[in-house]
Amino acid sequence: MAFPANFKWGTATASYQIEGAASQDGKGPSTWDMMCRKENAIFNNDTGDTTCDHYNRYEEDVEIMKQMSMQAYRFSICWSRVLPQGTGKVNEAGLDFYSRLVDKLLEDGIEPWVTLFHWDYPYHLYTRGGWLNPKSPEWFAEYTEIIVDKLSDRVSNWMTLNEPYCFLWLGHKTGNHAPGDKLGLEQVLLATHNALKSHGMAVKTIREKAKKQPNIGFAPVGKSFYPQTNSQEDIKAAYEMTYSFDSPDLWNSTWINDAVFKGCYPQDGLRVFGKSVPKFTDEDFKIISEPLDFFGFNFYRAPAVRMGDDGPEILSPKAGDPLTHFNWPLSPEGLEWAAKFHHERYKLPLVVTENGMANCDWVLSDGTVRDYQRIDYLKRYITALHRAIEAGADIRGYFVWTTMDNFEWAEGFSKRFGLVHVDYQTQKRTPKLSAWWYKKVAQTNGLHA
Ligand code: NOJ
Repeated sequence: MAFPANFKWGTATASYQIEGAASQDGKGPSTWDMMCRKENAIFNNDTGDTTCDHYNRYEEDVEIMKQMSMQAYRFSICWSRVLPQGTGKVNEAGLDFYSRLVDKLLEDGIEPWVTLFHWDYPYHLYTRGGWLNPKSPEWFAEYTEIIVDKLSDRVSNWMTLNEPYCFLWLGHKTGNHAPGDKLGLEQVLLATHNALKSHGMAVKTIREKAKKQPNIGFAPVGKSFYPQTNSQEDIKAAYEMTYSFDSPDLWNSTWINDAVFKGCYPQDGLRVFGKSVPKFTDEDFKIISEPLDFFGFNFYRAPAVRMGDDGPEILSPKAGDPLTHFNWPLSPEGLEWAAKFHHERYKLPLVVTENGMANCDWVLSDGTVRDYQRIDYLKRYITALHRAIEAGADIRGYFVWTTMDNFEWAEGFSKRFGLVHVDYQTQKRTPKLSAWWYKKVAQTNGLHA
């Protein structure tokens, strides 16, 4: 099963989840540093203070990626490592870390894919209102310019925001992610609007200042559904459910994506959110919908749907259906249809910026980690992705979440998503069987027996 020439195979991580070095070399605090200080906010009161200590061990980690024949690596930059106060004075040591990381990747033949923001928001800016402050888009643009100035002679692949749903909704509404706030809908939608403007200003900044022709996208996540059968009715039901606005939250696939790719909020969303929608102007949407080069999307799970007599019906999982260690159902068809639907609706090349599973992995007494479930998971999802390509979706790359086990946000260290096992006491890395299986996928540009 071959993939298109130039298809990129890689893995992904995020700064707070792997770097550690929470206050090393002048890094400023982020909202996640503060969140982890709150009693019982995180499983087992775990923190990202040290996590995989990647800040000090990045060379070893890139060596492992090289051994795995990886072609691309998606990582994020910790804003407050570069700008301890969020704006103003640059911490050269922090900025230099990312420059050394990029050099090491290129030296080992791995293409860097940079995410500007994967949730670790500068705490000092949070004390000034964070995403609620109308100045927040300017702050993000200032930070972006510093990164682009430093890295764009060597980096051409950029993503602005990772999963806006999570840092906006889980961070500001339900409060189980940093900064841990439980605000009213009006404020959350205002924060969202400012985050979207920040995204657009970052795109503009990259486009104008990059030294190398940039390839720009972002990495959203949202609800999606797949049809129970290939009948036109079921496909219609799944498409409608994926893009409809049936509950007043941000777990829909259109509030953010339509704003970015179509330059407007969806009509049904405007009706559902009603008076809570912030005032906006045409000028705002011009910024928000700055043209992108690719649609990145993170995908893990989706329920099946069929067209019933009274409209689309979601099918509940059957007793005993396979679940990952996060209790997320195994649903490769979901990836296939998300790719097809996004291709149809947004008409841009797609990149799967995250996909993978939490598994109950440990180092066996013989020293190996045999994660057969993960191999099977990846095999099924990659096969499904191939079906989407055969059906005409333009898909350019696939990033496994995640390179190595790491700090899984509110779940602390209780969930292992890595292709490489990490012992957090000794910092020993052990590539799992899936790492070598995925190496073959990258080497052969497709699935093998
Ligand atoms: C989405 C997030 O971007 C990433 O940080 C997280 O670890 C994975 N999904 C798994 O939950």
